[in-house]
Amino acid sequence: MAAISIASLTKMKAAGDKIVSITAYDATFARLFASLGMDFMLVGDSLGNVVQGHGSTIPVSVADVAYHTAAVRRGAPEAFVVADMPFMSYSNPQQAYDSAAELMRSGANMVKLEGGEWLVETIRGLVERGIPVCAHLGLLPQSVNVLGGYKVQGREQSAADNTLRQALALQQAGAQLLVLECVPVSLAARITQQLSIPTIGIGAGPDCDGQILVMHDMLGLNSDYLPKFVKNFLADHGSLSAAVSAYIHAVKDGSFPGPEHSFSG
Ligand code: KIV
Repeated sequence: MAAISIASLTKMKAAGDKIVSITAYDATFARLFASLGMDFMLVGDSLGNVVQGHGSTIPVSVADVAYHTAAVRRGAPEAFVVADMPFMSYSNPQQAYDSAAELMRSGANMVKLEGGEWLVETIRGLVERGIPVCAHLGLLPQSVNVLGGYKVQGREQSAADNTLRQALALQQAGAQLLVLECVPVSLAARITQQLSIPTIGIGAGPDCDGQILVMHDMLGLNSDYLPKFVKNFLADHGSLSAAVSAYIHAVKDGSFPGPEHSFSG
């Protein structure tokens, strides 16, 4: 299989081929995911929750993400790897350039930032300096204290219109991928249809160009709480490999996410 690049992800959108991705934090899982045909991996700042045991992503540092990005890169030398820019590591363009440089030097192919139009200048500057950017709209876990909890975003018409406007602005600034987290199916479908860059959904319904899940969630390792948009693929499959393959196939054939994993407007 040819190595994945931004160009090939964009071609998959144009061809209507679903993109499948997952978070990864270490070399062993990265090797497994790559060997089974995962299109790309995200070294998410969700590592604050699932690896470090914090209650949010806020304590995560650039050094933490860089450490895990290097591990993922060692496990999957050919994989397309996106690294998350953690909380307050991109509060102005210069800080973003420094943080992104550290993540790219650790092995990332692209960095991801949470937020809307306030990031336009930063995204333009990163792309001009050779750093590909994935944007992230909808539920922004780094802003949980402003949002007042982990809630579905964009349910009201004005909020939905605003999210679409921000998505267009981020694409215009140079973002080449967009994660949509916890938004109604109708809004994700509208954004996906209007953007030329691929949308990757998590709790955003079946119409996104691709899907991502936190690996611990799709393996049912978080027994305390299973969000509505998650399916435990290990429950019906006897091994890690079988569970990951089932997830890949379910995204590719459009059977995941189903209506039971999605939010209405
Ligand atoms: O940090 C993370 O794992 C993420 C995904 C939820 C998309 O941003």
